[in-house]
Amino acid sequence: MAVPDDVVPLYSISILNISKATEIILNKIRDEFISKVNLAADEIEEENTVDNIQKKFSQEILLLLNKYLPRLDKTKIDLLINYLITQNIGLGNVEILLKDPNLEEITINNAHEPVWVYHRRYGWLKTNVKIPNEQRIRHYSTIIGRDVGKEITLLRPLMDAHLKTGDRVNATLSPISTKGNTITIRKFAERPWSITDFIKTNTISIDASAWIWLAIQHELSLLISGGTGSGKTSTLNAIANFFPPNQRIISIEDTRELILPNTLHWIPMETRLPNPEGKGEVTMLDLVINSLRMRPDRIIVGEIRRKAEAEVLFEAMHTGHSVYATLHANNVEETITRLTN
Ligand SMILES: Nc1ncnc2c1ncn2[C@@H]1O[C@H](COP(=O)(O)OP(=O)(O)OP(=O)(O)O)[C@@H](O)[C@H]1O
Ligand SMILES: [Mg+2]
Repeated sequence: MAVPDDVVPLYSISILNISKATEIILNKIRDEFISKVNLAADEIEEENTVDNIQKKFSQEILLLLNKYLPRLDKTKIDLLINYLITQNIGLGNVEILLKDPNLEEITINNAHEPVWVYHRRYGWLKTNVKIPNEQRIRHYSTIIGRDVGKEITLLRPLMDAHLKTGDRVNATLSPISTKGNTITIRKFAERPWSITDFIKTNTISIDASAWIWLAIQHELSLLISGGTGSGKTSTLNAIANFFPPNQRIISIEDTRELILPNTLHWIPMETRLPNPEGKGEVTMLDLVINSLRMRPDRIIVGEIRRKAEAEVLFEAMHTGHSVYATLHANNVEETITRLTN
């Protein structure tokens, strides 16, 4: 939607408008409902019971609505139940943005400014979604982290995590991000990138693809280098489809991004940051070394950042494994310099 006097177009979702009076009642219902519905933690963990939880919530909310707001018709009741559920479990209105496959990025910058999104066709857009306060943004980061065993605290105000759906998340807390708490969600491509997509969009030539395929068939190792956001991870994902299904593949990433076909024999692993007492850290290097004891045929490393990681990878190559990794460098010369210095 174009907005006069604003160079940035608006991405507008329809959000239920409710009066102040109704809101007060809904908040009361919310408090009562939260104290009533006491779910066992392991019940929430089970992904397949999300529907059951929603059903259970709806029933409770319905009882409360009938108590506080009698004489509502069925459509209004459904709207309010839906509203209470989206506002109180999960990420509120951000959940609605997450459902649009055309959005590549969803960014919360602070509680005063609207949420911005990056649209596949239109680029950056402002939305009509606002997060009510800084505390809520922090709460969202906390629940995102909790689901995947990561923590964000004043002492560790930066967090890399991912949603259960796989979308990559970065969160920061104020005062490190000086205007407020931030959350950046890079949405997963609905369908992972494939080599045919790359050929169709002229990212790679047919000859080069055939050559990479041959190299992979013959168990050569590959390094993918490029600048930030240049498509390294997407390329790694695309070429992983060439791996033969009768080989064991172990992937190691800081945050899960790769999606390989179900037909492959694939064990994805992920690093972990230490907890606030400095315990429990599992580094990339730990995982690379560990993977060598898991009898892999191919090892995928999301991103090489440190010298030790590169050394272990080369050791893995020497002991007969094929290794696939990405590395941040702008061209081939720089890649070699980074590896040899
Ligand atoms: N060939 C392509 N054509 C168009 N878009 C692409 C292509 N390859 C990747 N993209 C898109 O570009 C964005 C960045 O891709 P990707 O995450 O693979 O980059 P990266 O180099 O790994 O980034 P980072 O440095 O953040 O790890 C993604 O949204 C991805 O879908
Ligand atoms: Mg990447």
